[in-house]
Amino acid sequence: MNPAPITVVGLGPMGRAMAGALLRAGHPVTVWNRTPARADELVLAGATRAAGPADAVTASPLTILSLTDYPAMYDILGGLPAGALAGRDLVNLSSDTPAASRAAAEWAGDRGARFLTGGVMVPAPAIGQPGAHAYYSGPEELFAAHAPALRVIGETRYLGADPGLAQLFYQAQLDVFLTALSALLHATALVTAAGVPASDFLPDAMGMLTGIPDMVGDGASVAAALEAGRHPGDLSTTRMMGATAAHILRTSEESGVDRELPAAVASHYGRAIAAGHGARNWTALYEVIRARPQ
Ligand SMILES: NC(=O)c1ccc[n+]([C@@H]2O[C@H](COP(=O)([O-])OP(=O)(O)OC[C@H]3O[C@@H](n4cnc5c(N)ncnc54)[C@H](OP(=O)(O)O)[C@@H]3O)[C@@H](O)[C@H]2O)c1
Repeated sequence: MNPAPITVVGLGPMGRAMAGALLRAGHPVTVWNRTPARADELVLAGATRAAGPADAVTASPLTILSLTDYPAMYDILGGLPAGALAGRDLVNLSSDTPAASRAAAEWAGDRGARFLTGGVMVPAPAIGQPGAHAYYSGPEELFAAHAPALRVIGETRYLGADPGLAQLFYQAQLDVFLTALSALLHATALVTAAGVPASDFLPDAMGMLTGIPDMVGDGASVAAALEAGRHPGDLSTTRMMGATAAHILRTSEESGVDRELPAAVASHYGRAIAAGHGARNWTALYEVIRARPQ
C-alpha cells in the first residue's frame, strides 16, 4: 500500500522533524506554518506548501498538529469555513493539559472531525530514530488507522480512549525531566557560587541522574511500594533525607543562590516528618504530595 498523504501544521523544530521523517518514508506531505519561511526547506525536499489552514486540512485525510499549545490550534483552525473539518482526522502532538486535550477532542467532534491526542517523548533530532517514542490516546480505531504513519515518527504507545491520557503521561514525564533540569542548574549554581567551574561538577552530576535507579530501585519496585503504602525505614529514612534537604536549603541561602527549588523539596520532607513519617523510607513523602481524596 502506498504511504498515505499527511498534512503537518506547525513547523517549529518538532514539526519540521516530523514532516521530514514522513517525507523520507515516502508519504506525500503538505505543510503549513504561520511563519511561511519555516516551510522552505521542506518544500525543497518535496513537501507541498498549503496556501492556508483550510487548504492544509483538506489536502490530506490526516493532519498532524505540532504547536506550542492547544490555543494555537484554535487560532489556526477556529476560523475555518463551516464543514472544513468534517470527515478529517486530527492528531495533536502539542503540549497542554489533559483537560485541554479533552476539550479539544469535543471541539473537533462537534465539527465532524476525529481527534487523537499525542505527546512526543524525545527531542526533535531524535524523531524517526531508534528509541523515539510517543504516547497516544483517543478512539482506538482512529489510532489503529494511523498507527503505520505515526510509527514513522517513533514507537507508538497507545494509552486508551480518554483523550486526556496522552497529555497526562507527557506532562508527568516532563515533570521528571524539567525538575531534574532545574535541579542540575541549581546544583551547578551552588558550586559556581564558590568559584568552582561548572565543568568540574556537571559530569558527576549527570552520573547522579543516571545512577538513580541503582540507588532507589527500578520503577516497578518503587511503584509497588507506593501502591501498597509500604515505606519501611530500614535504609534512607525521611528524617535523614530531610536533614540533608534542610542543609541544601541553608547552603543555597548562604551562597545567594535561588532558594525556591530546595525550599519546595525541604517542605516535602518537613511536612512528611510533621505528619509522623520521619522513621519511614523517603517514599513516605508521597503521602504528603499525592492528591487527597475530595
Ligand atoms: N522541540 C522538542 O524537542 C520537543 C520535544 C517533545 C515535545 N515537543 C512539543 O512539540 C510541540 C512543538 O515543539 P516545537 O519545539 O516545534 O515548538 P515551537 O518552536 O514553539 O514551535 C511551535 C509552532 O507553533 C506555532 N504557533 C505557536 N503559536 C501559534 C499561534 N498562536 N498561531 C499559529 N501558530 C502558532 C509556531 O508558528 P511560528 O513558526 O509562526 O512561530 C510554530 O510552528 C510543543 O508542544 C512541544 O512541547 C517538542
